[in-house]
Amino acid sequence: MSTMSRTVLALGLALGASAAKNSIVAPTGAETLTVALLGDYGWTGWQPLPLDFCNIATPKLQAAGVEITRAMQNDCDAGDCQAISNATIEETRTARYIEKVCLQKNCSAFISVGDNFYDSGVDFTSEGIQRFYEGWADMYVGEAFDGNPWYQALGNHDVVAGKAGDNSSVYSTDYVISCHKDTNKQVDFLRKSFAESDATWKILQIHHGYISSSSNYTELQPLIDIVRENNGVVVNGHDHCMAHYQYQGMDFVLTGGAGYAEAGDCNYGVPLGPYAKWLGADAMQAANGFVTLDISYESLNFEYYARDMKLKGADYYPVKKDMKPSYNFTVTKHAAKGNH
Ligand SMILES: *[C@@H]1O[C@H](CO)[C@@H](O)[C@H](O)[C@H]1NC(C)=O
Ligand SMILES: *[C@@H]1O[C@H](CO)[C@@H](O)[C@H](O)[C@H]1NC(C)=O
Ligand SMILES: *[C@@H]1O[C@H](CO)[C@@H](O)[C@H](O)[C@H]1NC(C)=O
Ligand SMILES: *[C@@H]1O[C@H](CO)[C@@H](O)[C@H](O)[C@H]1NC(C)=O
Ligand SMILES: *[C@@H]1O[C@H](CO)[C@@H](O)[C@H](O)[C@H]1NC(C)=O
Repeated sequence: MSTMSRTVLALGLALGASAAKNSIVAPTGAETLTVALLGDYGWTGWQPLPLDFCNIATPKLQAAGVEITRAMQNDCDAGDCQAISNATIEETRTARYIEKVCLQKNCSAFISVGDNFYDSGVDFTSEGIQRFYEGWADMYVGEAFDGNPWYQALGNHDVVAGKAGDNSSVYSTDYVISCHKDTNKQVDFLRKSFAESDATWKILQIHHGYISSSSNYTELQPLIDIVRENNGVVVNGHDHCMAHYQYQGMDFVLTGGAGYAEAGDCNYGVPLGPYAKWLGADAMQAANGFVTLDISYESLNFEYYARDMKLKGADYYPVKKDMKPSYNFTVTKHAAKGNH
């Protein structure tokens, strides 16, 4: 079981307030503020470790008492090593697609649900800085992105670096262990910030999915209970696809399709229950893409943009008109008022 890093964003919409360029407050006179929701993208620049090192050198080094760090272990992950070639192409093409859609929709901000840098995050080293530019700073460029703020969350892949704990999971690092020692801190933070907020809409931005088509992270329940009490909405990633789930009276927006899209994460397009309202996948392939959120006083309008995926002449996830959303839904019930 991996870590539960998360951040929280309460988006307040102050209609009629005058706003500076790039503010997430709706500009004067504007009825709607549009933001982009995306996740699980940061593959470009990742160099899997050589198979020789992973399979032959590692056991010998370990036998000689040399520590193989969690990051090294993770950079030998067989599935991810196989994925990197397609993943890099898919991240780059999806970034260009997001740019096109966001130019059309005037996205004012970008909200990430984490896994910003595969396979093991970035650190403040020459290699880490290089990765930061390749996978993010030089990737999300163009008129639609330039100057607009990003609101980041951390995913499990972003927190692998650091001293290893005695648990064998690659996510068991000193940072993760210390976070898990006091999960109440985050629960209390969410409860307090939602309770004190008069925002029309309250949204939890988080990496893992409480409800999913591949793995339900039920340990998130204390956070989800707070969202429910506040009539909030959950936006998450982790699964490499897009989906809309309605569960226990709440809407969950899965937007993990900006990098390496995986059909299995959306159960090959087959709903596991009535909670799965839409799955961006078919039997072979999940869609690359992202979700736009149009925020007005009346509604939250979520639009799922799935990219027409072509590679070497094959259309492996065909979308007829991919500048239009493949799916959309609307929330009209305002969040519970704050009690401050
Ligand atoms: C390892 O750590 C993870 C995350 O903290 C935990 O869910 C899992 O149960 C631990 N495994 C063992 C074998 O202790
Ligand atoms: C990469 O994409 C091609 C084209 O869709 C596909 O045939 C191949 O299986 C993919 N490889 C992996 C590892 O996903
Ligand atoms: C985007 O902004 C341009 C220029 O301000 C405006 O003409 C256009 O109508 C806007 N489009 C949408 C979808 O809001
Ligand atoms: C997640 O929970 C739902 C509701 O209980 C259940 O129907 C579904 O099978 C679960 N998903 C997985 C992957 O176990
Ligand atoms: C949103 O979905 C409805 C069906 O639920 C559809 O009629 C409508 O055209 C969609 N809107 C957009 C902008 O795609």
